[in-house]
Amino acid sequence: MSLPASESSARLREALLAADFTADGLLELLGAPAYAALARSETVPALRATRGDSPLETLVRLFLLQQAVPDRRAGAALPLEQCLADGWLVREDAYGDGASAAVRATVDVRPYGGEEGQDWFIVSDLGRAVGGAGGAGTREEGVVLGVGGASTTLAGITVRAPVTRALDLGTGSGIQALHAAQHAVHVTATDLNPRALHFTRLTLGLSGAPEADLREGSLYEPVGEDTYDLIVSNPPFVISPGARLTYRDGGMGGDDLCRTLVQGAGERLNDGGYAQFLANWQHVEGEEWQERLRSWVPRGCDAWIVQREVQDITQYAELWLRDSGDHRTDPAQYAARYDAWLDEFEARKTKGVGFGWITLRKSGAEDPSITIEEWPHPVEQPLGPVVRAHFERQDHLRAHDDAALLAGHFRLADEVVQEQIGLPGAEDPEYVVLRQNRGMRRATKVDTVGAGFAGVSDGSLSAGRILDAIAQLLGEDPVLLRDRTPEAIRLLVEQGFLEPLD
Ligand SMILES: C[S@@+](CC[C@H](N)C(=O)[O-])C[C@H]1O[C@@H](n2cnc3c(N)ncnc32)[C@H](O)[C@@H]1O
Repeated sequence: MSLPASESSARLREALLAADFTADGLLELLGAPAYAALARSETVPALRATRGDSPLETLVRLFLLQQAVPDRRAGAALPLEQCLADGWLVREDAYGDGASAAVRATVDVRPYGGEEGQDWFIVSDLGRAVGGAGGAGTREEGVVLGVGGASTTLAGITVRAPVTRALDLGTGSGIQALHAAQHAVHVTATDLNPRALHFTRLTLGLSGAPEADLREGSLYEPVGEDTYDLIVSNPPFVISPGARLTYRDGGMGGDDLCRTLVQGAGERLNDGGYAQFLANWQHVEGEEWQERLRSWVPRGCDAWIVQREVQDITQYAELWLRDSGDHRTDPAQYAARYDAWLDEFEARKTKGVGFGWITLRKSGAEDPSITIEEWPHPVEQPLGPVVRAHFERQDHLRAHDDAALLAGHFRLADEVVQEQIGLPGAEDPEYVVLRQNRGMRRATKVDTVGAGFAGVSDGSLSAGRILDAIAQLLGEDPVLLRDRTPEAIRLLVEQGFLEPLD
Protein backbone atom coordinates (compact mmCIF):
# COMPACT_ATOMS: atom_id res chain seq x y z
CA MET A 1 0.00 0.00 0.00
CA SER A 2 1.52 3.34 -0.95
CA LEU A 3 -0.89 6.13 -0.33
CA PRO A 4 0.55 9.63 -0.60
CA ALA A 5 -1.12 11.96 1.86
CA SER A 6 -2.14 15.56 1.37
CA GLU A 7 -3.18 16.13 -2.25
CA SER A 8 -4.58 12.70 -2.77
CA SER A 9 -6.47 12.90 0.53
CA ALA A 10 -7.94 16.25 -0.38
CA ARG A 11 -9.12 14.87 -3.74
CA LEU A 12 -10.73 11.83 -2.17
CA ARG A 13 -12.30 13.94 0.59
CA GLU A 14 -13.97 16.11 -2.02
CA ALA A 15 -15.45 13.09 -3.79
CA LEU A 16 -16.65 11.51 -0.53
CA LEU A 17 -18.38 14.68 0.60
CA ALA A 18 -19.93 15.23 -2.85
CA ALA A 19 -21.56 11.80 -2.57
CA ASP A 20 -22.76 12.55 0.99
CA PHE A 21 -20.53 9.78 2.36
CA THR A 22 -20.86 11.22 5.87
CA ALA A 23 -22.20 9.92 9.19
CA ASP A 24 -25.57 11.58 8.52
CA GLY A 25 -25.64 10.46 4.90
CA LEU A 26 -24.95 6.87 5.93
CA LEU A 27 -27.67 6.89 8.56
CA GLU A 28 -30.16 8.13 6.02
CA LEU A 29 -29.14 5.60 3.39
CA LEU A 30 -28.91 2.54 5.63
CA GLY A 31 -31.54 3.30 8.25
CA ALA A 32 -30.85 3.08 11.97
CA PRO A 33 -30.81 -0.75 12.36
CA ALA A 34 -28.38 -1.40 9.48
CA TYR A 35 -26.25 1.55 10.59
CA ALA A 36 -26.10 0.19 14.13
CA ALA A 37 -25.38 -3.32 12.82
CA LEU A 38 -22.42 -1.98 10.88
CA ALA A 39 -21.05 -0.51 14.09
CA ARG A 40 -21.20 -4.06 15.47
CA SER A 41 -19.23 -5.34 12.42
CA GLU A 42 -22.37 -6.95 10.96
CA THR A 43 -22.44 -6.24 7.24
CA VAL A 44 -25.42 -8.17 5.90
CA PRO A 45 -28.05 -5.44 6.54
CA ALA A 46 -25.84 -2.81 4.90
CA LEU A 47 -25.20 -5.07 1.88
CA ARG A 48 -28.95 -5.38 1.41
CA ALA A 49 -29.39 -1.62 1.69
CA THR A 50 -26.77 -0.84 -1.00
CA ARG A 51 -27.97 -2.81 -4.01
CA GLY A 52 -28.63 0.37 -5.96
CA ASP A 53 -26.38 2.34 -8.23
CA SER A 54 -25.93 5.67 -6.45
CA PRO A 55 -22.42 6.98 -5.75
CA LEU A 56 -23.13 6.77 -2.00
CA GLU A 57 -24.05 3.08 -2.25
CA THR A 58 -20.90 2.48 -4.27
CA LEU A 59 -18.72 4.15 -1.66
CA VAL A 60 -20.32 2.17 1.17
CA ARG A 61 -19.69 -1.07 -0.72
CA LEU A 62 -16.08 -0.13 -1.45
CA PHE A 63 -14.91 1.41 1.78
CA LEU A 64 -17.11 -0.18 4.44
CA LEU A 65 -18.14 -3.55 3.05
CA GLN A 66 -14.95 -4.61 1.21
CA GLN A 67 -16.83 -5.35 -1.99
CA ALA A 68 -15.42 -5.26 -5.48
CA VAL A 69 -17.28 -2.67 -7.55
CA PRO A 70 -17.36 -2.49 -11.37
CA ASP A 71 -15.24 0.28 -12.89
CA ARG A 72 -18.33 1.96 -14.26
CA ARG A 73 -19.90 2.39 -10.82
CA ALA A 74 -16.65 3.35 -9.12
CA GLY A 75 -15.93 5.91 -11.83
CA ALA A 76 -19.29 7.56 -11.21
CA ALA A 77 -18.44 8.05 -7.52
CA LEU A 78 -14.70 8.77 -7.57
CA PRO A 79 -11.89 10.04 -9.78
CA LEU A 80 -11.14 6.41 -10.61
CA GLU A 81 -7.75 6.58 -12.31
CA GLN A 82 -6.45 8.99 -9.69
CA CYS A 83 -7.65 6.81 -6.81
CA LEU A 84 -5.96 3.82 -8.45
CA ALA A 85 -2.76 5.78 -8.96
CA ASP A 86 -2.84 7.08 -5.37
CA GLY A 87 -3.36 3.60 -4.00
CA TRP A 88 -6.80 4.02 -2.40
CA LEU A 89 -8.14 1.41 -4.84
CA VAL A 90 -6.68 -1.61 -6.58
CA ARG A 91 -7.88 -3.25 -9.73
CA GLU A 92 -9.55 -6.60 -9.57
CA ASP A 93 -10.20 -8.76 -12.57
CA ALA A 94 -13.61 -9.85 -11.34
CA TYR A 95 -14.16 -12.81 -13.67
CA GLY A 96 -10.60 -13.64 -14.64
CA ASP A 97 -11.33 -12.74 -18.26
CA GLY A 98 -9.46 -9.47 -18.18
CA ALA A 99 -12.49 -7.68 -19.56
CA SER A 100 -14.96 -7.28 -16.70
CA ALA A 101 -12.81 -5.01 -14.58
CA ALA A 102 -13.69 -4.02 -11.07
CA VAL A 103 -11.92 -2.26 -8.23
CA ARG A 104 -11.56 -2.74 -4.49
CA ALA A 105 -10.55 -0.41 -1.68
CA THR A 106 -7.19 -0.98 0.02
CA VAL A 107 -8.30 0.52 3.33
CA ASP A 108 -11.45 0.97 5.38
CA VAL A 109 -12.62 4.58 5.33
CA ARG A 110 -15.36 5.29 7.84
CA PRO A 111 -17.30 8.55 8.18
CA TYR A 112 -17.05 9.91 11.71
CA GLY A 113 -18.89 12.97 12.95
CA GLY A 114 -16.74 15.46 14.88
CA GLU A 115 -18.02 17.04 18.09
CA GLU A 116 -19.07 20.16 16.24
CA GLY A 117 -20.64 18.35 13.35
CA GLN A 118 -17.45 18.14 11.29
CA ASP A 119 -17.34 15.46 8.60
CA TRP A 120 -14.31 13.38 9.44
CA PHE A 121 -13.07 10.02 8.17
CA ILE A 122 -11.20 7.34 10.09
CA VAL A 123 -8.90 5.15 8.03
CA SER A 124 -8.06 1.67 9.27
CA ASP A 125 -7.27 -1.82 8.05
CA LEU A 126 -9.94 -3.38 5.88
CA GLY A 127 -12.60 -5.13 7.90
CA ARG A 128 -11.09 -3.87 11.15
CA ALA A 129 -13.00 -0.66 11.55
CA VAL A 130 -14.67 -1.70 14.77
CA GLY A 131 -12.11 -2.09 17.50
CA GLY A 132 -12.24 -3.17 21.10
CA ALA A 133 -13.64 -6.09 22.99
CA GLY A 134 -15.67 -8.43 20.86
CA GLY A 135 -15.03 -6.47 17.71
CA ALA A 136 -11.61 -7.07 16.28
CA GLY A 137 -11.75 -10.84 15.76
CA THR A 138 -8.24 -10.93 14.47
CA ARG A 139 -4.98 -12.64 15.25
CA GLU A 140 -2.88 -10.48 12.93
CA GLU A 141 -0.12 -8.83 14.88
CA GLY A 142 0.25 -5.42 13.28
CA VAL A 143 -3.36 -4.77 12.44
CA VAL A 144 -4.61 -1.20 12.83
CA LEU A 145 -8.15 -0.96 14.12
CA GLY A 146 -10.65 1.80 13.63
CA VAL A 147 -12.81 3.41 16.26
CA GLY A 148 -14.03 1.28 19.15
CA GLY A 149 -15.93 2.07 22.32
CA ALA A 150 -12.67 2.73 24.16
CA SER A 151 -11.58 5.24 21.51
CA THR A 152 -14.77 7.30 21.82
CA THR A 153 -14.72 7.05 25.61
CA LEU A 154 -11.26 8.58 25.76
CA ALA A 155 -12.17 11.23 23.18
CA GLY A 156 -15.23 12.09 25.29
CA ILE A 157 -13.44 12.47 28.63
CA THR A 158 -10.55 14.49 27.18
CA VAL A 159 -10.30 18.09 28.39
CA ARG A 160 -10.64 20.20 25.24
CA ALA A 161 -9.08 23.48 26.38
CA PRO A 162 -7.01 25.29 23.73
CA VAL A 163 -3.37 24.19 24.18
CA THR A 164 -0.07 24.59 22.41
CA ARG A 165 1.26 21.04 22.45
CA ALA A 166 -0.63 17.75 22.60
CA LEU A 167 0.65 14.17 22.52
CA ASP A 168 -1.38 11.14 21.42
CA LEU A 169 0.59 8.08 22.52
CA GLY A 170 -0.35 4.87 20.67
CA THR A 171 -2.28 6.72 18.01
CA GLY A 172 -3.53 3.73 15.94
CA SER A 173 -5.97 5.09 13.35
CA GLY A 174 -5.30 8.62 14.62
CA ILE A 175 -8.69 9.33 16.17
CA GLN A 176 -7.32 11.00 19.32
CA ALA A 177 -4.82 13.02 17.27
CA LEU A 178 -7.68 14.15 15.03
CA HIS A 179 -9.67 15.42 18.02
CA ALA A 180 -6.57 17.04 19.51
CA ALA A 181 -5.85 18.83 16.22
CA GLN A 182 -9.00 20.89 16.80
CA HIS A 183 -7.67 22.58 19.95
CA ALA A 184 -3.90 22.08 19.96
CA VAL A 185 -1.47 24.09 17.87
CA HIS A 186 0.97 21.16 17.54
CA VAL A 187 0.01 17.52 17.76
CA THR A 188 2.54 14.74 18.17
CA ALA A 189 1.27 11.21 17.52
CA THR A 190 3.36 8.15 18.33
CA ASP A 191 3.01 4.44 17.81
CA LEU A 192 5.14 1.34 18.07
CA ASN A 193 3.54 0.16 14.85
CA PRO A 194 4.73 2.12 11.78
CA ARG A 195 1.57 1.12 9.89
CA ALA A 196 -0.45 3.01 12.50
CA LEU A 197 1.45 6.22 11.77
CA HIS A 198 0.63 5.77 8.11
CA PHE A 199 -3.06 5.38 8.92
CA THR A 200 -2.97 8.42 11.19
CA ARG A 201 -1.56 10.49 8.33
CA LEU A 202 -4.42 9.33 6.11
CA THR A 203 -7.09 9.93 8.78
CA LEU A 204 -5.87 13.48 9.38
CA GLY A 205 -5.51 14.24 5.66
CA LEU A 206 -8.87 12.82 4.72
CA SER A 207 -10.54 14.70 7.58
CA GLY A 208 -9.05 18.01 6.48
CA ALA A 209 -6.98 18.32 9.70
CA PRO A 210 -3.43 19.70 9.84
CA GLU A 211 -0.59 17.20 9.66
CA ALA A 212 0.78 15.88 12.96
CA ASP A 213 4.34 15.21 14.02
CA LEU A 214 4.39 11.41 13.64
CA ARG A 215 6.98 9.46 15.61
CA GLU A 216 7.61 5.75 15.75
CA GLY A 217 8.61 4.04 18.98
CA SER A 218 7.58 2.62 22.31
CA LEU A 219 5.94 4.56 25.16
CA TYR A 220 7.69 7.90 25.80
CA GLU A 221 10.87 6.94 23.96
CA PRO A 222 10.02 8.82 20.71
CA VAL A 223 9.31 12.10 22.51
CA GLY A 224 12.50 12.24 24.58
CA GLU A 225 12.52 15.27 26.87
CA ASP A 226 9.62 17.06 25.16
CA THR A 227 6.80 18.30 27.36
CA TYR A 228 3.12 18.76 26.60
CA ASP A 229 -0.02 20.57 27.76
CA LEU A 230 -2.13 17.53 27.00
CA ILE A 231 -1.18 13.84 26.84
CA VAL A 232 -3.81 11.29 25.83
CA SER A 233 -3.44 7.57 25.44
CA ASN A 234 -5.75 4.68 24.82
CA PRO A 235 -2.86 2.28 25.27
CA PRO A 236 -2.58 -1.45 24.64
CA PHE A 237 -3.77 -1.99 28.19
CA VAL A 238 -4.78 -5.64 28.01
CA ILE A 239 -3.12 -7.77 30.68
CA SER A 240 -2.19 -10.93 28.84
CA PRO A 241 0.26 -13.81 29.00
CA GLY A 242 2.85 -12.50 26.57
CA ALA A 243 2.46 -9.89 23.83
CA ARG A 244 0.72 -11.05 20.70
CA LEU A 245 -1.39 -8.23 19.32
CA THR A 246 0.25 -4.82 19.15
CA TYR A 247 -3.04 -2.93 19.22
CA ARG A 248 -4.00 -4.29 22.63
CA ASP A 249 -1.22 -6.29 24.36
CA GLY A 250 1.40 -4.02 25.83
CA GLY A 251 4.06 -6.67 26.10
CA MET A 252 5.03 -5.77 29.67
CA GLY A 253 4.09 -7.95 32.63
CA GLY A 254 0.70 -7.46 34.29
CA ASP A 255 -0.39 -3.82 34.37
CA ASP A 256 3.20 -2.53 34.09
CA LEU A 257 2.58 -0.77 30.79
CA CYS A 258 -0.22 1.34 32.25
CA ARG A 259 1.80 2.06 35.38
CA THR A 260 4.81 3.12 33.30
CA LEU A 261 2.66 5.45 31.21
CA VAL A 262 1.04 7.09 34.22
CA GLN A 263 4.26 7.42 36.21
CA GLY A 264 6.09 8.86 33.22
CA ALA A 265 3.49 11.52 32.49
CA GLY A 266 4.42 13.79 35.41
CA GLU A 267 7.75 14.93 34.03
CA ARG A 268 6.33 15.33 30.51
CA LEU A 269 3.46 17.61 31.47
CA ASN A 270 3.71 21.39 31.44
CA ASP A 271 2.28 23.21 34.47
CA GLY A 272 -1.50 22.98 34.45
CA GLY A 273 -1.36 20.29 31.76
CA TYR A 274 -3.56 17.19 31.70
CA ALA A 275 -2.68 13.56 30.99
CA GLN A 276 -5.62 11.25 30.33
CA PHE A 277 -5.47 7.50 30.00
CA LEU A 278 -7.70 4.51 29.70
CA ALA A 279 -6.19 1.69 31.70
CA ASN A 280 -6.52 -1.77 33.18
CA TRP A 281 -5.20 -2.58 36.61
CA GLN A 282 -4.77 -5.74 38.62
CA HIS A 283 -6.75 -6.51 41.75
CA VAL A 284 -4.15 -8.40 43.72
CA GLU A 285 -4.81 -10.56 46.76
CA GLY A 286 -4.06 -8.74 49.99
CA GLU A 287 -3.83 -5.31 48.34
CA GLU A 288 -6.39 -2.51 48.04
CA TRP A 289 -6.72 -1.63 44.37
CA GLN A 290 -6.95 2.04 45.32
CA GLU A 291 -3.53 1.88 46.98
CA ARG A 292 -2.04 0.24 43.92
CA LEU A 293 -3.27 3.14 41.78
CA ARG A 294 -2.33 5.80 44.30
CA SER A 295 1.27 4.59 44.06
CA TRP A 296 1.21 5.25 40.29
CA VAL A 297 0.40 8.97 40.59
CA PRO A 298 3.55 10.99 39.86
CA ARG A 299 4.73 13.72 42.21
CA GLY A 300 3.36 17.22 41.51
CA CYS A 301 0.19 15.87 39.93
CA ASP A 302 -3.40 15.86 41.11
CA ALA A 303 -5.31 12.80 40.00
CA TRP A 304 -8.84 11.65 39.41
CA ILE A 305 -9.14 7.91 38.86
CA VAL A 306 -12.48 6.32 38.11
CA GLN A 307 -12.90 2.55 38.11
CA ARG A 308 -15.73 1.85 35.65
CA GLU A 309 -15.76 -1.92 35.72
CA VAL A 310 -14.18 -4.93 37.40
CA GLN A 311 -14.08 -8.37 35.88
CA ASP A 312 -13.00 -11.59 37.50
CA ILE A 313 -10.07 -13.26 35.77
CA THR A 314 -12.21 -15.80 33.87
CA GLN A 315 -14.51 -13.14 32.38
CA TYR A 316 -11.47 -11.11 31.49
CA ALA A 317 -9.61 -13.95 29.76
CA GLU A 318 -12.75 -14.94 27.82
CA LEU A 319 -13.41 -11.37 26.71
CA TRP A 320 -9.99 -10.97 25.15
CA LEU A 321 -9.83 -14.51 23.77
CA ARG A 322 -13.05 -13.70 21.91
CA ASP A 323 -11.68 -10.35 20.82
CA SER A 324 -8.86 -12.06 18.98
CA GLY A 325 -11.15 -14.74 17.54
CA ASP A 326 -9.45 -17.50 19.56
CA HIS A 327 -12.84 -19.01 20.42
CA ARG A 328 -13.19 -19.89 16.74
CA THR A 329 -9.90 -21.82 16.62
CA ASP A 330 -9.21 -25.44 17.43
CA PRO A 331 -10.74 -26.16 20.89
CA ALA A 332 -7.48 -27.58 22.23
CA GLN A 333 -5.63 -24.43 21.23
CA TYR A 334 -8.34 -22.28 22.78
CA ALA A 335 -8.11 -24.26 26.01
CA ALA A 336 -4.31 -23.92 26.06
CA ARG A 337 -4.54 -20.16 25.59
CA TYR A 338 -7.22 -19.83 28.27
CA ASP A 339 -5.04 -21.90 30.61
CA ALA A 340 -2.01 -19.71 29.93
CA TRP A 341 -4.06 -16.66 30.82
CA LEU A 342 -5.12 -18.15 34.16
CA ASP A 343 -1.53 -19.27 34.86
CA GLU A 344 -0.39 -15.70 34.36
CA PHE A 345 -2.99 -14.34 36.76
CA GLU A 346 -2.22 -17.02 39.31
CA ALA A 347 1.47 -16.19 39.20
CA ARG A 348 0.64 -12.54 39.81
CA LYS A 349 -1.87 -13.31 42.58
CA THR A 350 -4.44 -11.46 40.54
CA LYS A 351 -8.10 -12.11 41.24
CA GLY A 352 -9.69 -9.49 39.04
CA VAL A 353 -8.98 -6.68 36.62
CA GLY A 354 -10.27 -3.13 36.87
CA PHE A 355 -10.90 -0.91 33.90
CA GLY A 356 -11.20 2.82 34.08
CA TRP A 357 -10.06 6.35 33.43
CA ILE A 358 -6.99 8.02 34.85
CA THR A 359 -6.63 11.78 34.63
CA LEU A 360 -3.59 13.62 35.97
CA ARG A 361 -3.19 17.35 36.18
CA LYS A 362 0.16 18.93 36.84
CA SER A 363 -0.58 21.25 39.73
CA GLY A 364 2.78 21.27 41.45
CA ALA A 365 0.83 21.12 44.70
CA GLU A 366 2.61 19.87 47.78
CA ASP A 367 -0.61 18.29 49.01
CA PRO A 368 -1.98 16.86 45.77
CA SER A 369 -5.63 16.03 45.51
CA ILE A 370 -6.00 12.39 44.60
CA THR A 371 -9.51 11.05 44.11
CA ILE A 372 -9.84 7.33 43.43
CA GLU A 373 -13.37 6.05 43.17
CA GLU A 374 -15.64 3.45 41.68
CA TRP A 375 -18.44 4.72 39.45
CA PRO A 376 -19.85 1.95 37.24
CA HIS A 377 -23.10 3.77 36.40
CA PRO A 378 -24.04 5.44 33.10
CA VAL A 379 -22.59 8.90 32.53
CA GLU A 380 -23.28 11.63 30.02
CA GLN A 381 -20.48 12.05 27.49
CA PRO A 382 -18.65 14.21 26.57
CA LEU A 383 -17.23 14.53 30.07
CA GLY A 384 -14.25 16.73 29.16
CA PRO A 385 -15.79 19.86 30.73
CA VAL A 386 -16.77 17.84 33.83
CA VAL A 387 -13.19 16.58 34.22
CA ARG A 388 -11.82 20.09 34.00
CA ALA A 389 -14.39 21.41 36.49
CA HIS A 390 -13.49 18.59 38.91
CA PHE A 391 -9.89 19.80 39.13
CA GLU A 392 -10.95 23.45 39.42
CA ARG A 393 -13.18 22.60 42.37
CA GLN A 394 -10.30 20.68 43.97
CA ASP A 395 -8.18 23.82 43.65
CA HIS A 396 -10.90 25.80 45.35
CA LEU A 397 -11.25 23.35 48.24
CA ARG A 398 -7.50 23.21 48.74
CA ALA A 399 -7.29 27.00 48.91
CA HIS A 400 -10.15 27.40 51.42
CA ASP A 401 -10.03 26.26 55.02
CA ASP A 402 -13.32 25.68 56.84
CA ALA A 403 -13.70 29.32 57.88
CA ALA A 404 -13.11 30.49 54.32
CA LEU A 405 -15.51 27.86 53.04
CA LEU A 406 -18.28 29.13 55.33
CA ALA A 407 -17.68 32.68 54.18
CA GLY A 408 -18.04 31.56 50.56
CA HIS A 409 -21.08 31.39 48.30
CA PHE A 410 -22.28 28.30 46.44
CA ARG A 411 -24.75 27.48 43.75
CA LEU A 412 -26.59 24.21 43.23
CA ALA A 413 -25.37 22.67 39.95
CA ASP A 414 -27.79 22.56 37.02
CA GLU A 415 -30.26 19.70 36.83
CA VAL A 416 -29.76 18.34 40.32
CA VAL A 417 -32.95 16.84 41.74
CA GLN A 418 -33.91 15.54 45.16
CA GLU A 419 -35.34 12.06 45.62
CA GLN A 420 -37.04 10.92 48.78
CA ILE A 421 -36.51 7.21 49.37
CA GLY A 422 -38.70 5.20 51.71
CA LEU A 423 -41.41 2.61 52.00
CA PRO A 424 -44.58 3.36 50.00
CA GLY A 425 -47.10 5.17 52.21
CA ALA A 426 -44.54 6.07 54.90
CA GLU A 427 -44.97 9.59 56.26
CA ASP A 428 -41.27 10.48 56.26
CA PRO A 429 -38.60 9.34 53.81
CA GLU A 430 -35.95 6.94 55.10
CA TYR A 431 -33.33 9.05 53.43
CA VAL A 432 -32.93 11.76 50.84
CA VAL A 433 -30.80 11.50 47.71
CA LEU A 434 -29.47 14.29 45.53
CA ARG A 435 -29.12 13.19 41.93
CA GLN A 436 -27.34 14.85 39.00
CA ASN A 437 -29.03 14.46 35.65
CA ARG A 438 -25.94 15.59 33.78
CA GLY A 439 -22.27 14.69 33.57
CA MET A 440 -21.25 11.90 35.94
CA ARG A 441 -24.91 11.49 36.92
CA ARG A 442 -23.92 11.00 40.52
CA ALA A 443 -26.28 10.33 43.38
CA THR A 444 -25.48 10.95 47.03
CA LYS A 445 -27.34 10.52 50.29
CA VAL A 446 -27.80 13.69 52.31
CA ASP A 447 -29.27 14.45 55.73
CA THR A 448 -31.85 17.17 56.44
CA VAL A 449 -29.13 19.80 56.77
CA GLY A 450 -27.45 18.77 53.52
CA ALA A 451 -30.72 18.73 51.58
CA GLY A 452 -31.77 22.10 53.05
CA PHE A 453 -28.37 23.61 52.34
CA ALA A 454 -28.37 22.43 48.72
CA GLY A 455 -31.94 23.63 48.26
CA VAL A 456 -31.23 27.25 49.16
CA SER A 457 -27.78 27.46 47.55
CA ASP A 458 -28.48 30.00 44.84
CA GLY A 459 -25.38 32.06 45.56
CA SER A 460 -27.08 34.91 47.39
CA LEU A 461 -26.22 33.95 50.99
CA SER A 462 -22.87 32.77 52.31
CA ALA A 463 -22.63 29.14 53.43
CA GLY A 464 -22.33 30.24 57.06
CA ARG A 465 -25.48 32.38 56.87
CA ILE A 466 -27.41 29.48 55.33
CA LEU A 467 -26.29 27.17 58.15
CA ASP A 468 -27.33 29.74 60.77
CA ALA A 469 -30.81 29.90 59.23
CA ILE A 470 -31.04 26.08 59.14
CA ALA A 471 -29.90 25.88 62.78
CA GLN A 472 -32.67 28.27 63.75
CA LEU A 473 -35.28 26.25 61.84
CA LEU A 474 -34.16 22.95 63.36
CA GLY A 475 -33.58 24.38 66.83
CA GLU A 476 -29.88 23.42 66.71
CA ASP A 477 -26.88 25.25 68.12
CA PRO A 478 -25.54 27.32 65.17
CA VAL A 479 -21.94 27.10 66.41
CA LEU A 480 -22.07 23.32 66.50
CA LEU A 481 -23.70 23.21 63.07
CA ARG A 482 -21.02 25.49 61.58
CA ASP A 483 -18.49 23.21 63.16
CA ARG A 484 -19.70 19.90 61.82
CA THR A 485 -21.04 20.79 58.36
CA PRO A 486 -17.97 21.90 56.32
CA GLU A 487 -16.99 18.28 55.71
CA ALA A 488 -20.36 17.56 54.08
CA ILE A 489 -20.16 20.78 52.04
CA ARG A 490 -16.71 19.79 50.84
CA LEU A 491 -18.04 16.44 49.68
CA LEU A 492 -20.93 18.07 47.79
CA VAL A 493 -18.47 20.46 46.13
CA GLU A 494 -16.01 17.70 45.34
CA GLN A 495 -18.73 15.64 43.67
CA GLY A 496 -20.05 18.58 41.68
CA PHE A 497 -23.43 19.05 43.40
CA LEU A 498 -22.41 22.52 44.57
CA GLU A 499 -20.37 25.02 42.60
CA PRO A 500 -18.27 27.60 44.42
CA LEU A 501 -19.00 31.10 43.17
CA ASP A 502 -15.97 32.99 44.46
C1 LIG B 1 -5.88 0.36 21.76
S1 LIG B 1 -4.99 1.01 20.41
C2 LIG B 1 -5.53 2.69 20.46
C3 LIG B 1 -5.61 3.35 19.12
C4 LIG B 1 -6.21 4.76 19.11
N1 LIG B 1 -5.40 5.70 19.84
C5 LIG B 1 -7.63 4.77 19.63
O1 LIG B 1 -7.89 5.46 20.62
O2 LIG B 1 -8.47 4.10 19.05
C6 LIG B 1 -3.34 1.06 21.07
C7 LIG B 1 -2.28 1.54 20.13
O3 LIG B 1 -1.03 1.55 20.83
C8 LIG B 1 0.00 1.06 19.97
N2 LIG B 1 1.07 0.49 20.80
C9 LIG B 1 1.24 -0.80 21.22
N3 LIG B 1 2.31 -0.90 22.01
C10 LIG B 1 2.85 0.34 22.09
C11 LIG B 1 3.97 0.88 22.75
N4 LIG B 1 4.77 0.12 23.51
N5 LIG B 1 4.25 2.19 22.60
C12 LIG B 1 3.44 2.99 21.83
N6 LIG B 1 2.37 2.52 21.19
C13 LIG B 1 2.06 1.22 21.31
C14 LIG B 1 -0.71 0.05 19.09
O4 LIG B 1 0.01 -0.16 17.89
C15 LIG B 1 -2.08 0.70 18.90
O5 LIG B 1 -2.08 1.51 17.76
